[in-house]
Amino acid sequence: MAKKTIAIDGPAGAGKSTVARLVAKRLNYLYIDTGAMYRAITYKVMQQKIPLDDHHALTELAQNTNIKLINRNGRNLVFCDEHDVTEQIRDPEVSRNVSLVSLVPGVRQKMVQLQREMARDGGVVMDGRDICTVVLPDADCKIFLTASVEERAWRRRKEFEVKGYPISWESVKEDIMQRDLLDSQRAVSPLVKSPDAYLIDTTGLTIDTVIKRILNLCLGDD
Ligand code: C5P
Repeated sequence: MAKKTIAIDGPAGAGKSTVARLVAKRLNYLYIDTGAMYRAITYKVMQQKIPLDDHHALTELAQNTNIKLINRNGRNLVFCDEHDVTEQIRDPEVSRNVSLVSLVPGVRQKMVQLQREMARDGGVVMDGRDICTVVLPDADCKIFLTASVEERAWRRRKEFEVKGYPISWESVKEDIMQRDLLDSQRAVSPLVKSPDAYLIDTTGLTIDTVIKRILNLCLGDD
């Protein structure tokens, strides 16, 4: 069967990464986590102490940064200019700043260029905010994943806890709402459901159910 391109968009904590990774594994496709790429550039911006409102400096930095997503022994690693930043980019401080970096048009231009190169040969599952609308408008299958903000906050809190960041549910919920607002109201490539994307509300659904639904929608596979 010809290798397809599967695009998945949705707000923070909707389950995109977990589901996209497992769908890719099941199909033996490449998984491309575009959120990890925006987090990696944000981490570099923070390391270099560049003010987040200096869009000129952020654009220049992005143009001179190379980000690679590598699967090594089943682990998805994120490299920023040869440095492994897989763990660092999950820091809550990166989560708080990433939406301010990703609204900069010059930063997005570089990331979209890298993302299209990665998807060039098909056989990819790519997740993010603007994949169906901007990065891969001709994707074979488009999905918009969402869930109630309460459930998304529980999921993210659990992830932070596992990684050793004990944060209250209220604070995670506040961050998620703030990020959703910035992501959906920015001028360039806002988070919006593409009219031709299938909507899946994952509230109360198991991961397995969501995966089966996506495989069914994209490949007609049960
Ligand atoms: O998916 P994740 O929550 O890791 O994404 C982190 C942030 O990166 C998002 O809140 C958004 O600001 C940005 N992002 C984006 N476009 C994408 C993927 C992520 O602007 N395609």
